[in-house]
Amino acid sequence: MKNYILIGFMGAGKTTVGKLLAKEKGMDFVDTDERIVSEQNRDIPDIFTEDGEAHFRDLETDLLRRMQEDTEHAVVSVGGGMPVRPENRELLRSLGCVVYLSAEKQTILGRVQNDGSRPMLNGNDLETRVGQLMRERESLYRQAAHVTVRTDGRSLHQVLRIIDQETRRFGL
Ligand code: S3P
Repeated sequence: MKNYILIGFMGAGKTTVGKLLAKEKGMDFVDTDERIVSEQNRDIPDIFTEDGEAHFRDLETDLLRRMQEDTEHAVVSVGGGMPVRPENRELLRSLGCVVYLSAEKQTILGRVQNDGSRPMLNGNDLETRVGQLMRERESLYRQAAHVTVRTDGRSLHQVLRIIDQETRRFGL
């Protein structure tokens, strides 16, 4: 397969792990949120406020379609909601080896506190919101993934080693 695709909930470590994996493998690093922000020339909270979540999801799908043509030899970190649409799950799987970075709710909560950059987490009760979204998404992440790697209680180094071992059979 030509790319690594990292999926998982907000705060699962996709960007941190992805950047290091790309460096180790001598591959490019691509972050779908960053590409959308630079193409739109506005940040994600602004896209949500001005045009709504559905529009952001359309931008994600459109980007994923274009990436089938322009992305290879890359580690791709995708926004936490990307695998929710069935079409996106297909596109992700055809783009590369999909690695689901899983984490427990408490781990996620520790990482996404006081974060104004994630509109999906706006509202009063963060714990309820995170719990609800994680329940909705867990099985979708597993459907999209070729490989699942737990990150709780593991160092970055350990997570990278496991990704390496588990993805070898996909020719990466
Ligand atoms: C979202 C996750 C964010 C970003 C947007 C929506 C989600 O990306 O795409 O705020 O629905 O889970 P990260 O997972 O990189 O935080």
